[in-house]
Amino acid sequence: MRERVLSGMRPTGKMHLGHLHGALENWRDFQDTYECYFFIADWHALTSEYSDPHIIKESICDMIIDWLSVGINPEKSTIFIQSKILEHAELHLILSMITPLSWLERNPTYKEQLQEITNRDLSTYGFLGYPVLQAADIIMYKANKVPVGIDQLPHLELTREIVRRFNFLYGEVFPEPDAILTQTPKLLGVDGRKMSKSYQNSIYLSDSPKELKEKIGQMFTDPQRVKRHDPGDPSVCNIFTLQKIYNIPGAVEEIAKQCRLAGIGCVECKTILTELLIRDLTPIQEKRDYYVSHVDEVQEILRRGIRNAQKVAQATMEEVRKAVRID
Ligand code: TRP
Ligand code: SF4
Repeated sequence: MRERVLSGMRPTGKMHLGHLHGALENWRDFQDTYECYFFIADWHALTSEYSDPHIIKESICDMIIDWLSVGINPEKSTIFIQSKILEHAELHLILSMITPLSWLERNPTYKEQLQEITNRDLSTYGFLGYPVLQAADIIMYKANKVPVGIDQLPHLELTREIVRRFNFLYGEVFPEPDAILTQTPKLLGVDGRKMSKSYQNSIYLSDSPKELKEKIGQMFTDPQRVKRHDPGDPSVCNIFTLQKIYNIPGAVEEIAKQCRLAGIGCVECKTILTELLIRDLTPIQEKRDYYVSHVDEVQEILRRGIRNAQKVAQATMEEVRKAVRID
């Protein structure tokens, strides 16, 4: 039996380059080795968007279409929506009985977000329990591997602790999942801050050639490089980070060298990058256009994924109910 990989994303809208290189490319590659489950964590989104939830639903279709367009393959993977599998809520409830408050209160991600996010009230029971719901998502499918970014590692550790406690109290039901730390290139947005939907600085997979030209054109380069004949430092330049992703190794080295010698200008460097981006995104966008005009196919893919996930979830919950003797 192949090991299981599971990962999820909160529905925040169209996918940008950060999602592609930080998560989706890894997901795509895992499909060849693992039995994969990928889902939209809409209940997790609700923990912070509860007062204005319309964005959640609007995002789901866009996201699924983006996933399919980059090669998440419904023949290989189970693609589903968290809230369609009510068993997640039941497991969350049961896990909440055995999770000490102190484990949740000391969670660094929780403490950080409480501090950083000031435009909404996150002092809720649901938000504190975010990682308990995440644990339910993961162990419902008895996932062995969970690809996540570094910010999610504390949640994975909590999942492992909850699993140990569950197994100790009720018998060995769940495997302890391992995190697969996905190597994320540090992609900055058009304004030099982290690429994020909330900063409106993202380059989307669906951006047209015109939008790509404009956005790349606006991007900061080496701030020390004011005039064309000033030498540049590629290591501090966001355009260069993208060159490393999109250009071939020899050409990347040559650009770095010429940048330091002021042999290449930023305008030219950006033009090269834009062409490469257009080349790479075009096939993704062609698939995207296909799915946008065949939304019924997308719905059918989701229905199949949900059915598949439900089967696994129902079987797990039968085991869980027996184990905790609420059956
Ligand atoms: N918390 C994750 C994030 O913000 C999303 C998520 C929810 C998730 N449930 C999960 C990721 C289970 C991996 C496994 O990125
Ligand atoms: Fe950045 Fe390219 Fe300009 Fe060098 S030449 S500073 S790598 S954009």
